[in-house]
Amino acid sequence: MLRIAVLASGNGSNLQAILDRIASGALDAEVGVVISNKPQARALERARSAGVPSLALDPAAYADRESYDAALVEAIRAAGAQCVVLAGYMRLLTPVFLAAFPGAVINIHPSLLPSFPGLRGAGDALDYGVRLAGCTVHFVNEEMDGGAVIVQAAVPVTPGEPLDDLKARIHAMEHRIYPQALQWLAQGRLRVEGRCVHVAPPDSGVVPAA
Ligand code: GAR
Repeated sequence: MLRIAVLASGNGSNLQAILDRIASGALDAEVGVVISNKPQARALERARSAGVPSLALDPAAYADRESYDAALVEAIRAAGAQCVVLAGYMRLLTPVFLAAFPGAVINIHPSLLPSFPGLRGAGDALDYGVRLAGCTVHFVNEEMDGGAVIVQAAVPVTPGEPLDDLKARIHAMEHRIYPQALQWLAQGRLRVEGRCVHVAPPDSGVVPAA
């Protein structure tokens, strides 16, 4: 069974979607720990409600980004997680962290990457005037929002619509595609070739992840 660690800085609605899919049996994974850089994050409450171990690690208690990330790595390893899922985690990860989990860190971003990386993907897309916004699940590398794409979903934009409406529709789509991408990973169906991620069909005979 795939054991994941979830890093979240805020509301944690994507964490909730993952927990709900696990509970319903649609996602063959377990959440070993939820960690936040914000002690007040709602994501931590959601973890507690689901009976999942949770941890707040305050960056102010660490000398620099590398020592903070080393503490994160230790907590994730202690939880026995094989894969790290970023769900609204609003800090850049250092090479210290990425080297600890090569090819095993996944992120969701509220735009159709490579368009509109950064902190306000949906807002930047709306300001630009795109007709199609969306969201992207991707592997994480050292570039911000830069790793290989696993799955994307498009969300039509109504010109002039309020940002909160667009964000809500993107969120609803995120809640579908993130558990889906993790289920492919749990089933051992993802194969990365350069920037291209192949998803093997379910009956391909690929041996599922242990
Ligand atoms: C999500 O929309 C996610 O795509 C975004 O933060 C939100 C977290 O929502 N992540 C980024 O912008 C990363 N660059 P949630 O806390 O309700 O899951």
